[in-house]
Amino acid sequence: MARIKLKKLEEYLQGVDGFEQPKVKLEQYPTPPHIASCVLYNIQAQYDDIDGKLVGDLGCGCGMLSVGSFLLGAQLTIGFEIDTDAIEVFRSNINEMELSSIDCIQTDVLNLANTKWTNSFDTIVTNPPFGTKNNAGIDMRFVENGIKLATNAVYSLHKTATREYIKKKCKEWNVVGEVVAKLNYNIDASYKFHKNKSVDIEVDFWRFDVTEKNI
Ligand SMILES: C[S@@+](CC[C@H](N)C(=O)[O-])C[C@H]1O[C@@H](n2cnc3c(N)ncnc32)[C@H](O)[C@@H]1O
Repeated sequence: MARIKLKKLEEYLQGVDGFEQPKVKLEQYPTPPHIASCVLYNIQAQYDDIDGKLVGDLGCGCGMLSVGSFLLGAQLTIGFEIDTDAIEVFRSNINEMELSSIDCIQTDVLNLANTKWTNSFDTIVTNPPFGTKNNAGIDMRFVENGIKLATNAVYSLHKTATREYIKKKCKEWNVVGEVVAKLNYNIDASYKFHKNKSVDIEVDFWRFDVTEKNI
């Protein structure tokens, strides 16, 4: 059960301000409210992994997934983000919406493993950089760090083309990976080099059960 209707959740998330000047190198594009609300609603309604839980959001950007987790009843939500400008927008979003029990920490997500955050969260959510800007593999490094932080489950989005590789990593880490849904992800023309108005890419929405993890 979710404490808020899907339509209402999407309406609220439409009010989350996005990146002012998105940085291509950091792959800064917000999760569209429609996708963010469907993904988060599903995490709660199907798996009961948000309401009352400690939730971490890796690469939280301006807070789309953190705010959504809050609205679905997370006990505490902590976003982790490397970029100061994004964090400023994150803070302004939570102030404007008058949200509590939600915060953001400036850090490089790739250095989070083996810190005091290890095993600190029930659930980790992330829409990681896909690794298309000379940073191939960064999405799986986000997941790897997420697995170390979570005791129950990690949820993440990845290009469908990487599905077989991710299955191999699941075996290596002894986590149970499941593609919950296949999405058509629409990245708006936020960057000048996009010739088309928007670009559609096929994306898998993954759930990783980390209760038996071996990393
Ligand atoms: C695709 S955006 C997703 C933003 C937000 N989570 C959302 O769903 O709208 C990826 C985010 O990861 C951040 N990021 C990229 N590399 C990072 C790193 N090494 N450590 C922390 N954050 C990083 C970017 O600045 C950006 O905000």
